[in-house]
Amino acid sequence: MDLVARTANYVQEKFYGESSGHDWWHIHRVYETSMQIVAGEAIMSIKEDVVALAALLHDIADWKFNGGNDEAGPRAAAEWLGSQNTDVSVIEDVCTIIRELSFKSAGVRTPMTSLEGEIVQDADRLDAIGAVGIARAFAYGGYKRRALFDPNVSPAVHQTADQYKTQQSPTINHFYEKLLLLHDRMNTETGKQLAEQRHLFMLSFLNRFFEESHEMDSRHA
Ligand code: ADP
Ligand code: NI
Repeated sequence: MDLVARTANYVQEKFYGESSGHDWWHIHRVYETSMQIVAGEAIMSIKEDVVALAALLHDIADWKFNGGNDEAGPRAAAEWLGSQNTDVSVIEDVCTIIRELSFKSAGVRTPMTSLEGEIVQDADRLDAIGAVGIARAFAYGGYKRRALFDPNVSPAVHQTADQYKTQQSPTINHFYEKLLLLHDRMNTETGKQLAEQRHLFMLSFLNRFFEESHEMDSRHA
């Protein structure tokens, strides 16, 4: 079995034992989407093994250390890859990507410093939008005991995202705070194309949601 397959087995085993927000199937989708982007970009110099390993290991800190600090992920990944006699340069590339991705979730927007990292970041962001993204947002909101939607805290599109950034803002608001912004933040052409379809699906979902909530006239048409 090659290193990518062994890593997939290892991560799957770890994530199945955990009930945290990131399940194995999120990792699986990010891996598959990363490979789809690699194929779409068709750039010879892409280090496919680095992309694959980084996608599989990108949320590794979430089971082991509960995402406690920025070094937890890279350390856990380096430990695993080191135990598999992986080239030092591959370990370094993968750990840099995981580190840069976790800076993002700490709220600081740092650009990725490699094409391989840009691909994994696109794939991770793509999993937050579209049908899967909608499902994940409501699952997360339920876990945090957030309301689905509250017209009194309404996410009117004309107002700025900051106005909705209260701790317990309803899940629908998260679309305006973050999810609808992601299609403009794609690094790769293939990522952009995939994001566009998913973005349109979220818009049509939101339109139907407001329509069924009898909120159409007080909102965007
Ligand atoms: P990842 O680490 O995979 O990039 P996050 O940990 O940032 O993702 O978020 C996990 C999932 O929870 C995503 O689908 C994201 O949209 C969703 N999520 C994060 N914050 C909120 C929120 N305030 N309301 C609803 N969903 C959220
Ligand atoms: Ni992720």
